Amino acid sequence: MSNPAGESFSGEKAYYVTTPIYYVNDAPHIGHAYTTTAGDVLTRWHRQRGEKVWYLTGVDEHGTKVQRAAEAGGVTPQEWVDRLVAESWLPVLETVDAVNDDFIRTTEDRHVQRVQKFWEQVRENGYVYSAPYEGPYCVGCEEFKLAGDLVEGTGEFAGQMVCPVHGKPAEELREENWFFQLSALADRLIEHYETHPQAVRPQSAYNEVMSFLRGGLVDISMSRSSVDWGIPLTWDPDQVVYVWFDALLNYATATGYGSEPGSADAAKYATTFPADVHLVGKDILRFHAVYWPAMLMAAAEPLPKQVFAHGWLLVGGEKMSKSKLTGIAPEQIIDHFGSDAFRYYFMRAIAFGQDGSFSWEDMSARYTSELANGLGNLASRATAMVGKYRESVLPEPGPLGEQEMAVVDRLAAAIPAADAAIEELDFATAIGEVRSVVELVNQYVTEVEPWVLAKDEALAQRLDTVLYTMCEALRAIAVAYNPVMPKAMASLWEQLGADAALGEIAAQRLGDASRWGQLPPGAVITKGAALFPRLPDESPEI
Ligand code: MSP
Repeated sequence: MSNPAGESFSGEKAYYVTTPIYYVNDAPHIGHAYTTTAGDVLTRWHRQRGEKVWYLTGVDEHGTKVQRAAEAGGVTPQEWVDRLVAESWLPVLETVDAVNDDFIRTTEDRHVQRVQKFWEQVRENGYVYSAPYEGPYCVGCEEFKLAGDLVEGTGEFAGQMVCPVHGKPAEELREENWFFQLSALADRLIEHYETHPQAVRPQSAYNEVMSFLRGGLVDISMSRSSVDWGIPLTWDPDQVVYVWFDALLNYATATGYGSEPGSADAAKYATTFPADVHLVGKDILRFHAVYWPAMLMAAAEPLPKQVFAHGWLLVGGEKMSKSKLTGIAPEQIIDHFGSDAFRYYFMRAIAFGQDGSFSWEDMSARYTSELANGLGNLASRATAMVGKYRESVLPEPGPLGEQEMAVVDRLAAAIPAADAAIEELDFATAIGEVRSVVELVNQYVTEVEPWVLAKDEALAQRLDTVLYTMCEALRAIAVAYNPVMPKAMASLWEQLGADAALGEIAAQRLGDASRWGQLPPGAVITKGAALFPRLPDESPEI
């Protein structure tokens, strides 16, 4: 975990990005790492723009699902979550190379106390009342199911109604609960989304939320009386806060909700909350786009700017999941391809907002063609040629011809286009734009044949121009790709001698990246290790 911007909670509001907090009933799989990676690319991109950013992730430790996993494992829930967080959930952040600023656990004191405070406030505002609940509950989703939520079961559950995500019948609950008066907020939610169409993205998710809202809202239990593993209600300690109404609050508790006025945490809340974007899987859209803003309305807190629902990673056409034994651990892929390639592949190959299938073959093919033979080869050709023809010193270019101008122009168009795509969380298009520059420069090198120019002393200045064009284009590419592939781009930056000449790569601004001529002639270029080494032949069994 790192916070390059430093903990400063004064002045401008940070661009605040969150992932869902993950259930610690089991270890992470690549579906979880997918959201964390997207949040991280977004975070680094905004930092590369020069913005202040706050990136939060964490874990959801309460509820029946975690409690049952602990029981099955023969330990207390606290022991269970402590072990899994230390052994799996914190290490996976390193594995995917995430630079989150904070990591919230829902068993932490700061969370527990603030959740209690929040619900006291909502109760004081008149949105909480006591009533019996009777109906279906899916433990996999930790959700009270509504009539329209369940579908006809198949196979062993034929003839029964099952949860569409978990494929199992829901459990029948009958308990005395405290209710949240969601129904009272339906009109305000509809009005909010009509006036803020950007608040739920992509469009399909917006439409889904609007149709759910227009169908009418019923009140929902905010507490559970038959569950112990949770946060007790202050006014009725025999009940715990319903796990989703505990978990959603992480976005507020981690940033200092309810802190003493004038305290550092209060300043942090004022300059961080609400989120600019909550990244969520499409399965948890309703919680984030309906229940969460309703809770905030009831507490008179500000609403998030956007909830973005991404698709699922599929295996055999179904959502990858540990419970269905289709989960692939991130390290299985990263040990083979490296974290940069993982980040690149998942942001590039799957349109964010749509489902996608992971295949080892597709990832190997893209790694080889786009990274090793594309960018990696361009970098190694550029650094090797400056080494061979100019004793590792970047030459002063001569006048730019038409071919060089095509590179300059592509760059000038590609980086703003990539930036605009990131604004829409369209990672694939953003990467495609940067990649178009790589392709063009590779094609340029093939056409101008620097190795032929090198044979003729009369063409020395032309060769200088070509070598400079290759390296200068790589400089800009490194900046634009740094949020996606930070390790490889830091290495490229160093090989270009840019560290010494221009300072750290993280300090370069995207808005300035396509300005031609930044790498100074005289920079010392070194051919380092391959950015994307050849893959080991064997693909592991997964
Ligand atoms: N604990 C809740 C979230 C609370 S947020 C206030 C939860 N946890 S989860 O671990 O089940 O899922 C967390 C996220 O991982 C969700 O966004 C979910 O969509 C995502 N994914 C889980 N499996 C996934 C795939 N197979 N593919 C893509 N994302 C997946 O829900």
